[in-house]
Order: sequence, then C-alpha cells, then structure tokens
Amino acid sequence: MSTYLKTVEAVYEQAAKQPDGNLCCTPSSAWNLPGLHVPPIMNAMNYGCGSTVNPRDLRPDDTVLYVGVGGGLEALQFAYFTRRPGGVIAVDPVAAMREKAQANLEEASRLNPWFRPEYVEIRDGNALDLPVDADSVSVVAQNCLFNIFIQSDFERALSEVVRVLQLGGRFATSDPIANGPLPEAFRADVHARAQCLSGCQTLDDYVGTLVSAGFGRVDVRARFPYRAVTPAEYPCLTETVMLDSIEAVAYKEPDGFDGPSINTGRMAIYIGPAETHRDDSGAVLIRGIPAPVSDAAARRLARHPDIIVTPPTFHARAAGCC
Ligand SMILES: C[S@@+](CC[C@H](N)C(=O)[O-])C[C@H]1O[C@@H](n2cnc3c(N)ncnc32)[C@H](O)[C@@H]1O
Repeated sequence: MSTYLKTVEAVYEQAAKQPDGNLCCTPSSAWNLPGLHVPPIMNAMNYGCGSTVNPRDLRPDDTVLYVGVGGGLEALQFAYFTRRPGGVIAVDPVAAMREKAQANLEEASRLNPWFRPEYVEIRDGNALDLPVDADSVSVVAQNCLFNIFIQSDFERALSEVVRVLQLGGRFATSDPIANGPLPEAFRADVHARAQCLSGCQTLDDYVGTLVSAGFGRVDVRARFPYRAVTPAEYPCLTETVMLDSIEAVAYKEPDGFDGPSINTGRMAIYIGPAETHRDDSGAVLIRGIPAPVSDAAARRLARHPDIIVTPPTFHARAAGCC
C-alpha cells in the first residue's frame, strides 16, 4: 500500500477513536426527515463536505453502496429510504471506523423504531478494490474521500464505481475542489491530503475525470465555500487558498447529442418570433420558458440570435433537454 494511503488510514483510525469536529468541516447539517433521529455521535463524526443523500431521487428499491462509512450518518440516511437488509452496503478499510459506525448504527436503532442495524451491511473494503459484484448496485455514494486520492487512484476508484453500478445507476459524490491548481509543495503534504485539503482538483479536472471513467452525464448540484487554507498554517503556500465543496451526481449512461452531458445549472430560453424552436438535437424550446441545457448544448445554442443562455448556477436540478 502507498505511504500516503497508510497516512490516510492512520488519520481516520484516530478520528474513529476520538471524534474531531475540525477534521472535515461541513456547513450542511443532516437532513431533517420525518421520524429520522440522528444520534449526536453521528453528527459529531460528520466527516463529509456536503451531502450525497437526495430525497428527490432515492427509491425503496435502490441498493446503495456507500464508500468510506465514517460515523455512519449518511449510511443511516440512505437506509431511511431503502429500509431492508442489504439495502445499504458500506465499506471502509479502517477497522476502528467500521466498529464505531456499527456501534453508532446500533444506537440509531434504539432511537428510530423503523431502523434495524442489518439495514446497513458494513464490509471491510477499499475504494480501490471494492468487495462488491459487478453491475449489482443502483447507487454508489462517497463523501469527502475521493479528493484524497492521487490521480491514478482516483481513476481506479472511479473505474470500480463504474464496474459495480448497474447501467443507468448513479454515483453521488461530494468533495472539496480548488479554484485553481494547487502548488506542488502543498499537494505533496500527505497529512493535508488525508485531511481533504491538498488533494483537491479544479472542478473541470474533477468532472473531466468522471467523464473519462465512463459517465455520460454529470450534474453539479451544489457548490459552496468549504475552507480557506492560509500560509500561516502551511508555510509552503505563498497566498491563501480558497476551497469550495461540490455535490454532484454522475450517471452510468451513454453520452448525449453533444457528447458527455455536463449540467451545471445553465438554462436556454428561446425569445424568437415563433411559439417554439426545435434545435439540432430535436429538443423543443417553448418561447419564454427556460429549459435546462448541458454546458456543451449551452455553447452551441448561445450562437443562435434568438436564444438567451444563462450562466452556471451549480444547482442542476434536471437533465438538460439537450
Ligand atoms: C473524510 S472521511 C468521510 C466519512 C464519511 N463519508 C462522512 O461523510 O462522514 C473518509 C472515510 O473514508 C475511509 N477511508 C479511508 N481510506 C479509504 C479507502 N481507501 N477506501 C475506502 N474508504 C476509505 C475513512 O476511514 C473514513 O471513514
């Protein structure tokens, strides 16, 4: 195993034994869903940097693979939707983290009459070699882990995600990203990498790696400030670095008309003389009504004199019409 991965495991072994509220600070709290009572220890061990759980698209028949269980908060929230043994499989290579998550899930079963610990099956496993059959799950989720990986391991972890996902399945991911390339000396700091700081990529590089792994559609659903990292903390930096956090969903499906469909919340609005406009892809725009479009379609449609294209909001809510 690489030296940096050993450091990662040591950091999270310690974080399992001694919850550390400053490890991965997330400005988003757990979902307040009816009848869901989150044990305080799970909130104290929220080492995510956003949310991968989205009530808008979870179904009882989903089978969810959660990579890097942490304190079990998101595994519990996914089980809220699946509510059956084996509905959620969670993997983690750190024994202390698996034990802590199991204890936390048992505590959750005391607080939530609908929940049984066997609704989440925790396995000893590694993102780089998932202990899960090919084409066996409809959802894979990871929160604040893949940013830690060096590029070759990030690609390997994504190829594992693609392998285990059923066709049409989705990969819900939340990670910090950098607003520009990070200095090499900072990237080489393995402890900062383990703490979800120095491994961050730019959004374009992150999404580009998802697309190269075989996802034909990527929706960026949220982007918000995550952390300011200063030269006082890391003398290898010459200036303060701002990190954002994103929430995205990647779909194991074919490319769209314009190639991979990357959705960042852009809209196209036809304002011409006709009631509707049929674009080259066959999509129909209704005069005056915003239609979500992929970034590639936005670039193509922006050349039309009667179409307004809006900038990214990073709140993609639906597949682009084209
Ligand atoms: C930053 S924490 C995130 C925990 C959880 N996802 C959350 O949102 O609270 C990273 C988690 O990934 C686990 N982990 C570390 N290396 C891993 C690997 N190679 N494969 C899978 N999980 C790993 C850690 O033990 C820890 O539980």
